[in-house]
Amino acid sequence: MNKDLITMDDLTNEEILSLLNDAERLLPVARGEKYLPLLQGKLLANMFFEPSTRTRMSFETAMKRLGGDVVNLGDVKSSSAVKGETLYDTMRMVDGYCDIAALRHPRQGAAQYAGDACSISIMNGGDGAGHHPTQTLLDLFTIQQEFGKLDGLKVALVGDLRYGRTVHSLSHALSRFNCELIFISPAQLSMPDEIVEDLTSHGANIMITEDLYGAIPEVDVIYMTRIQKERFPDEDEYAKVAGIYCLEASDLAGAKGEMIIMHPLPRVNEINPDIDSTRHARYFEQAFNGVVARMSLMCKLLGVTIPGGDV
Ligand code: NCD
Repeated sequence: MNKDLITMDDLTNEEILSLLNDAERLLPVARGEKYLPLLQGKLLANMFFEPSTRTRMSFETAMKRLGGDVVNLGDVKSSSAVKGETLYDTMRMVDGYCDIAALRHPRQGAAQYAGDACSISIMNGGDGAGHHPTQTLLDLFTIQQEFGKLDGLKVALVGDLRYGRTVHSLSHALSRFNCELIFISPAQLSMPDEIVEDLTSHGANIMITEDLYGAIPEVDVIYMTRIQKERFPDEDEYAKVAGIYCLEASDLAGAKGEMIIMHPLPRVNEINPDIDSTRHARYFEQAFNGVVARMSLMCKLLGVTIPGGDV
């Protein structure tokens, strides 16, 4: 396995399946039913230069449930970044302090840069509008838990496909497992051309539309995303597309019974809370799955094997 996880290209399909398999075995540990201090003595650096709730907390939960410990960058405004310290210098220091690091940064490419600067493993927790591969691992785990497979499903990715990094990483992974993809967004927020070209050149089956409601009866998974307000160069442009897709329970009448709705969260108004109590909602389970996905990843990157049999 590569030293770092920067994009899904760092993992082979076999490695992905092995990580998901380990993640499943760690479910009792994530639920607090078993204590398994596999990462005792290991220290994770949580380096979040952008807001985060789930990614940061689930990395921390994963490390602590496995007996390890965590140091946090804390509020960027109270870090030396405000004094003008470069990312390179900060990461070189972290390289000496900790055994592994999760990094979230507003600049696309920052995770690769940090990975090149450090000898410890860097896990990309989101680099601008680039990639978010650890989110993809938990997304794939959620889909696999639901359908018992990843292959051959029909998945709609909805909302901000331009600036949304979760869908950049996820579309790449799903197409490698032969899923049919439907990209649903307004034209201003469509999937970047280079990503569509890359996916199609690798044989991906992609449909592009603005029509969410027409796709609902056809799909196995609807993956909603937030419009990434913070990445818009212009407030007025954001105002034009804000609230463009908002799913309500009444929209789901024609959906397949087993269809699931996912969202990396936070949701703003893309999913009406009246969906929460329907059989389709999976976003809170999905968020929980972030703990096992990140446990599994950290064990693998730190070279720690999960003992055989049920843990
Ligand atoms: C996402 C992100 O930061 O890209 N959040 C997350 O990690 N669960 C999605 C978002 O912020 O909209």
